[in-house]
Amino acid sequence: MNLAQQIEQYLPQQLLALVQDISAQAAKRGQRVYLIGGVVRDLLLGYPNFDLDLVVEGDAVKLAQRVAETSQAKLLAHHRFGTAKLRYENFTLDLATARRETYARPGALPAVTPGTLKDDLIRRDFSINAMAISLAANNYGELVDSHHGKSDLEHHLIRILHPGSFSDDATRILRAIRYEQRLGFELEAQTAQLLKRDIPMLDTISGDRIRHELELILKEKQPELVIKRLAALGVLPRISPSLKGDGWIAEKFDKARRLKKPTQLASLYFCLLVYSFSERRIEQLLARLNISAKLSRAMLDTLRLKTSLPLLDKPSRKPSEIYYLLREYEPLAIQANALASESPTVHHHLQLFLTKLRYVRTALDGEELKRLGISAGPKMGKVLQILHKAKLDGEVRTRTDEKKLALSLSLKL
Ligand code: CTP
Repeated sequence: MNLAQQIEQYLPQQLLALVQDISAQAAKRGQRVYLIGGVVRDLLLGYPNFDLDLVVEGDAVKLAQRVAETSQAKLLAHHRFGTAKLRYENFTLDLATARRETYARPGALPAVTPGTLKDDLIRRDFSINAMAISLAANNYGELVDSHHGKSDLEHHLIRILHPGSFSDDATRILRAIRYEQRLGFELEAQTAQLLKRDIPMLDTISGDRIRHELELILKEKQPELVIKRLAALGVLPRISPSLKGDGWIAEKFDKARRLKKPTQLASLYFCLLVYSFSERRIEQLLARLNISAKLSRAMLDTLRLKTSLPLLDKPSRKPSEIYYLLREYEPLAIQANALASESPTVHHHLQLFLTKLRYVRTALDGEELKRLGISAGPKMGKVLQILHKAKLDGEVRTRTDEKKLALSLSLKL
């Protein structure tokens, strides 16, 4: 099958020109270049995807160096892996040397040797991700589909390429469900059986790799679908017995999506995922997934704050009280609790802190207090604190109000 026309329509002009230039340079060196993986899958599905992966039969790094010398591209080369990134003004291209992979033991990182396009296709996770399109002049646009990926796309199937696939690399268990739910596909029957059989192989995977796959899941449009399905298949308990994918998670994820800036959304989902965890379970999960210090703090704070919520469940709480109850917590933890709490009063107080109280500052600072005759030291600290509380509670509004209060305090304190 030839997809030359589809490529021309699918890729932006500028990107197409870059790719063709790379292919021409490769030809001069006797190398062949292919589009491979996700972009081929998405091109056939008609979904936009301009994160292009190119595979090169022969040394991809040398080719990328040559391309960088003759263009504006910035080069980032990884000689050890035979891969290179070319960064242009509007696009980034990933080039990789076609390779053969062998797994010494389940879960180990594969041993890599240079190989052919065929080798590079069979090392991949699923048939729908194991297709390539030639960019070489003599068969430009030809689809290389040795594992019937196109047919699986048409039949909406996620299929592994050999029975040892999940045990070689159990991250594929998580990947399979991510693609299944993203695309609305199904696991092919034998793939489903092997996936269930190999769930225990997740124990062979490092925390960093599992966390990375979870992060990819949480970047999906509707991660709750993936989480729910992973729970139903018994995958989640293998990561932590307390991880759930129930209706509660689905509802809270949906709510979270509607309020949060996308950059922080994955972290907020993590906080929601551990909302029903005990302290012991969360410590285990943080260690298992090697979660960063910052996110760990937010997740632990989420649970710590949860136990303090009754203090916020009083409509009469003054803004300054709310401020002092919450100021030590990570904003993400406060946001997670605002989403999770069933009490409208608690929700209101948490939102008030997030949207207003945490930004309230006094108009006067230490320098200005000095000018009013208040010397630096504990007394000034006390004055500033009282001013801040008064500002939070709306007892002072203007600079003049604050000056008056500061002067009267300086006489009293
Ligand atoms: N791949 C694999 N096994 C993995 C990870 C990746 O075989 N454990 C292969 C797949 O062929 C995949 C390609 O590497 O298509 C690129 O991986 P990645 O960038 O993670 O995925 P994309 O296919 O680009 O998909 P996405 O849309 O999720 O980015």
